[in-house]
Amino acid sequence: MENFIYEYPTKVYFGKSMAKQHLPEILKDYGPNILLAYGGGSIKTNGIYDEIIGILKAAGKTVTEFTGIMSNPTYAKVQEGAALARNCKADLVLAVGGGSVIDCCKIVAAQAVTDDDIWDMEMNRRLAPFKTPIPLGAVVTAAGTGAEMNGGAVITNEDVKIKAGMFAAAPRFAILDPMYTMSLPAAQVISGAFDTLSHAMETYFGRSDANNVSDEVAEAIMRNTITNMRAVRKDLHDYTARSNLMWDSAMAENGILKVGRLTDFEAHQIEHQLGAYTDCNHGQGLAVIHPAYYRLIYKEAVSKFARFARNVWGISEAGRTEEQLAAAGIDALEDFIRECGLPTKLSDLRSKVEITPALLRQVADSCNTLPNGYKQLTHEEIYRLLLECL
Ligand code: NZQ
Ligand code: ZN
Repeated sequence: MENFIYEYPTKVYFGKSMAKQHLPEILKDYGPNILLAYGGGSIKTNGIYDEIIGILKAAGKTVTEFTGIMSNPTYAKVQEGAALARNCKADLVLAVGGGSVIDCCKIVAAQAVTDDDIWDMEMNRRLAPFKTPIPLGAVVTAAGTGAEMNGGAVITNEDVKIKAGMFAAAPRFAILDPMYTMSLPAAQVISGAFDTLSHAMETYFGRSDANNVSDEVAEAIMRNTITNMRAVRKDLHDYTARSNLMWDSAMAENGILKVGRLTDFEAHQIEHQLGAYTDCNHGQGLAVIHPAYYRLIYKEAVSKFARFARNVWGISEAGRTEEQLAAAGIDALEDFIRECGLPTKLSDLRSKVEITPALLRQVADSCNTLPNGYKQLTHEEIYRLLLECL
């Protein structure tokens, strides 16, 4: 295994009614001023807003609202939130939403305590934010990203057309109540769960493959995610399936699968840049990219892809060479994407602009190419891969 240091920064409260039961006590650790952040308004229609604001008021807190955080949150939105956090002298930023709200708030919490421009600091000067951010708490309403249990935030800077991972503090606490996700549209439940599957795959398919317990845990998370995606396709409100998917989501991106190994995440890099140009849904973009990406790289790691076919998809090796088995695993992934009704072509994605070869050239040229997958792609290879997905 590779060397590692592992720390678990987030206290998790998982299950039904956890906000009602525990938030009053949690709030005692923080001062009076709360920045309550949420998205486009789903929490106003599903009752979550009323429940949380009731708890905050009963605790005697002064609440400032930061609203309208969009999917694929922008850096401009971060600045708006940071200004509010400064003005209200926030003692706690409480993010109530999915990955977009939580990510935006991670950077708000870091930006609010410094006059330095966080984007410039992280992206251009390669400095980590060094001032202690405002404490952050997350109430998760959409599962999939695992944003509630890590310190990464994915932010779109519209000025430079880059959607990038930034680093800030992880939430100090996270409330994961599967009931809070029940009002999600089916398509978001599935695309969120595919994001979880993608995180596990991107971690599993990286260099340093030798005998690693993390890979066995990743296989369990992948199998469980697949099983429960099938279960919610049958019954969207199956609590057991929704709670498994919620914990799969946290497990796939809280760092536990990454201990002792190097990871890939090239498909994520490509999807993020696609998102920067098109504003497409993250999990749906990943669904389009993954099979094509794996067909491009699997010959560099045939035995690992064959193991994926065997241990994740239950494909028998009988009558197959190892390479055929490896290819069958990718076919199974693609069939599953179809079975779930996820998009398989870029043209199926909701996009704010027409997806043309010229646009894909810009996407490809602005992608990071990461070194820890089985094959480091060139920008030209990414372009050809994207054209194939069109
Ligand atoms: O804005 P509202 O009205 O709340 O609607 C949201 C949004 O339209 C809706 N929603 C959320 N909870 C709901 C609900 N609708 C009904 N009932 C509820 N309970 O769902 C829509 C999608 O929400 P969003 O937060 O955008 O989705 P997701 O959780 O998939 O987050 C996506 C963002 O996270 C980033 C993605 O790139 C993308 O920007 N990621 C963050 C990661 C991280 N920090 O670790 C890792 C991921 O790889 C990913 O990149
Ligand atoms: Zn993701």
